[in-house]
Amino acid sequence: MLAAYVEETNADDPLAALQIGERPDPEPGDGWVTVDVRAASLNHHDLFSLRGVGLPDERLPMILGCDAAGLDPDGNEVIVHSVIASDGWRGDETLDPKRSLLSEKHQGSLAQKVAVPSGNLVPKPAELSFEEAACLPTAWLTAYRMLFVKSGAKPGDTILIQGAGGGVASAAIVLARQAGLRVWVTSRDAARGERAVELGAHEAFESGARLPERVDAVLETVGEATWKHSLRALRPGGTLVVSGATSGGDPSAELSRVFFLQLNVVGSTMGTRDELGRLARLCVTTGIRPEIDRVLPLSDAREGFAAMSSGDVFGKIVFTP
Ligand SMILES: NC(=O)c1ccc[n+]([C@@H]2O[C@H](COP(=O)([O-])OP(=O)(O)OC[C@H]3O[C@@H](n4cnc5c(N)ncnc54)[C@H](OP(=O)(O)O)[C@@H]3O)[C@@H](O)[C@H]2O)c1
Repeated sequence: MLAAYVEETNADDPLAALQIGERPDPEPGDGWVTVDVRAASLNHHDLFSLRGVGLPDERLPMILGCDAAGLDPDGNEVIVHSVIASDGWRGDETLDPKRSLLSEKHQGSLAQKVAVPSGNLVPKPAELSFEEAACLPTAWLTAYRMLFVKSGAKPGDTILIQGAGGGVASAAIVLARQAGLRVWVTSRDAARGERAVELGAHEAFESGARLPERVDAVLETVGEATWKHSLRALRPGGTLVVSGATSGGDPSAELSRVFFLQLNVVGSTMGTRDELGRLARLCVTTGIRPEIDRVLPLSDAREGFAAMSSGDVFGKIVFTP
């Protein structure tokens, strides 16, 4: 089958590590099923995998990709929940210390077929296209959990979302607007800031800009480049939710600001299978849909990876195998 995969990682030049070609069909074990992938979306995680982050040599070659929507063996339309919990784990899958995402230990979704535990399938609502549904399992689910489970933000609050153009950030903009929040965003690029306003943000600011007032919560995926600004943007007692560190993961901790203003710094990772089901239903009941930057055939995946690597993206990149 056709797949986008990595055989030898490259820390300095991730695109040089990307291979698009034939890989063996999956051979699902007990309790696992093969999904016929109709659409799969790209995440920054896939670029990190090409660099070898979280992907040691002994697991290679590895098919990339966390997200997919497709058909199960009975022909049902499904969305794949990418968090693979260890055998016997009960409860919130994201808290399982032995969990992995597709493409970390098990072959990923940027392929014509992917094998997953049968419990990781969520029904795809007919109202969502396969391309839209394929955007939900990582970026949208992460934004959902950051906002609705972790941030404590209530309708009427103001939230700051850093890095407007990203997959998680663009999802958070749509979800926060739908939830009745005042939505402020930053972007390195004025045009992406304008796109964010068209998408639902109330106001867009340059990265690092002084804000008109302090905010109740910040959603952070950019990391070092925006961390200080995120902490400075919060009102006393406010909450910073962090789920990513694209620009680097070792910023100044700003401890005196954290304790003096009694800020909450909260980590967040992916979401549960149940949250993915709720997110899909939320899209149906509200009519909101993922912002898709472009849809490409899987054979042209290199174009999508290059766009994400250069940061020239607004929303999600989707591949159809
Ligand atoms: N913990 C989890 O479960 C989880 C889940 C999903 C994603 N993540 C992480 O969250 C991060 C975002 O993922 P994504 O898929 O949304 O990535 P993405 O689509 O590539 O978005 C990254 C965004 O970061 C912004 N950015 C601002 N300053 C930057 C800088 N100096 N360098 C690079 N980017 C900068 C950019 O927005 P502007 O250009 O508009 O400023 C860019 O669009 C990644 O680090 C990813 O690994 C974690």
